Amino acid sequence: MLDDNLAPSEIPTVTLAEKGLHIPLSSGSCYFNYYWLRDADPTNIDPATRERIFDITEIEGGPVASSAFLEEQTLLINWVGESHVSRIPLTMLDQFMVSGRNPDPAMIPRRLWKAGAYDTFARFEQSDIEASDSVRQSFARALIEDGVALVTKMEDSNEALTRLANQLGQVTPTADGHYFDVRLEIAPTNLAYTARALEFHTDLPSEDAAPGVQFLHCRSNTVSGGYSLFLDGAAAAEAFRESDPAGFELLASHDIPFFRRNVDWDYRAHQRVIELDRDDQVSGLTISQHLQDTMDLTQDVLDDYYPAFCRFLSLLKEDRFVNRFRLEGGSCIVFDNHRVVHGREAFEANSGSRHLRGCYVDRGALRSTYRTLVKRSV
Ligand SMILES: [Fe+2]
Repeated sequence: MLDDNLAPSEIPTVTLAEKGLHIPLSSGSCYFNYYWLRDADPTNIDPATRERIFDITEIEGGPVASSAFLEEQTLLINWVGESHVSRIPLTMLDQFMVSGRNPDPAMIPRRLWKAGAYDTFARFEQSDIEASDSVRQSFARALIEDGVALVTKMEDSNEALTRLANQLGQVTPTADGHYFDVRLEIAPTNLAYTARALEFHTDLPSEDAAPGVQFLHCRSNTVSGGYSLFLDGAAAAEAFRESDPAGFELLASHDIPFFRRNVDWDYRAHQRVIELDRDDQVSGLTISQHLQDTMDLTQDVLDDYYPAFCRFLSLLKEDRFVNRFRLEGGSCIVFDNHRVVHGREAFEANSGSRHLRGCYVDRGALRSTYRTLVKRSV
C-alpha cells in the first residue's frame, strides 16, 4: 500500500510497457499483464450472481492501456479503444503478490501425524457441530489440517449420518449409491462386507472422481477383533520422499489402473499413487491392492516402478505410521479419503454385531464450507 503522507511530487508512478504495466506496491515495483488487469476489474463481476459477465475476447487485438495512474489506494487504467476506466484496489494487487494467487483461507498447511496420534484426533459432539458455526468451522478445519476428526454422541439413526454429512456439503454418490453399509453379507460385493481383514487402502480408486471426504458412522461394534487401522498417507509419503527420492518420483508421476467389477459394473480408472498439490506437497494417496488392475505402464518402466511401489506399500505398514483403535458404537470417524489410508483387522463373525454406515462428501465442498464459515465469522 502507498503511504498516504507522500507529497504529490513523491508519489511513485505507474509505467506502461508493451504487454503490461509496472506499479509500485508495498513489496516493490510489480509487473501486471494487461489481460490480467482487464479481467481483474471488479466491475466484471455481476453483484447479484457474483459471476463474471465480461468477455475479454470482445476486445479486438486484446486490452492495452493508454494511460494509468494512482488515485489514493486505487489503480486507474484507461484502455485503448474503450471508454471504460478500470479501477482496481491496490489491496487486491498487494494480496495477489503475496503468493501469486487469490488469497484462500482454506489453504492451510497440513499437520502430518504418525503412530500414537489417535488420542490427539480432533473430537466433536454431533449436536455441537449442528448447533454452532464455530464448532462446525473447527470440525472443517481439522479435516483440512489433519485429514481426520472423530464425531461422538451420534444419534443412532440413518438420518444422523445425513445431517452430519450435510454440515460439510451434499452427499456425493458412488457405484454403491449415496450410502453404504459395512456389515456381513451373504453374497458380498466387496471385501469390506466380509469378516476378513481389509488391507490398507483408500476407497474406490476405480471411479474417475474417487470419493473425497469419507464418513463412517459406527452404529454397533461388539465383535471380537475388527480393530481399525489408520495412517496419514501424506506423512508416510513425505517420509518416502526423504528415504527413497527416486521411488517417490516414480509414484508421483505415473498413473496406474484400478477396477471394480461385478455383475452389473465394470468401473476402470487410472490414478496416481502419490498425489501432489500445486506447492509440490503430498496432498494424498491412492492405494488399493484389492482394486488394482493389471499394471499397464510399459514393461521397462515397471522394472523400476514395481519395486518402488512395493517399497512404498511396505513402508505404509511400518509401526511408526499406523494407529490401531476400536471404533465405538455411537461415533463417526470422518477423514480425507485421498489422504488417510485405512484398513481393518479381521473379526470373529459370530462374536457380536458390527455395522458401519458410510457416505462421502466432496473435498471441494469441505473447503467451500470452511471458506464461507471463515467469512461469516469475521
Ligand atoms: Fe474403506
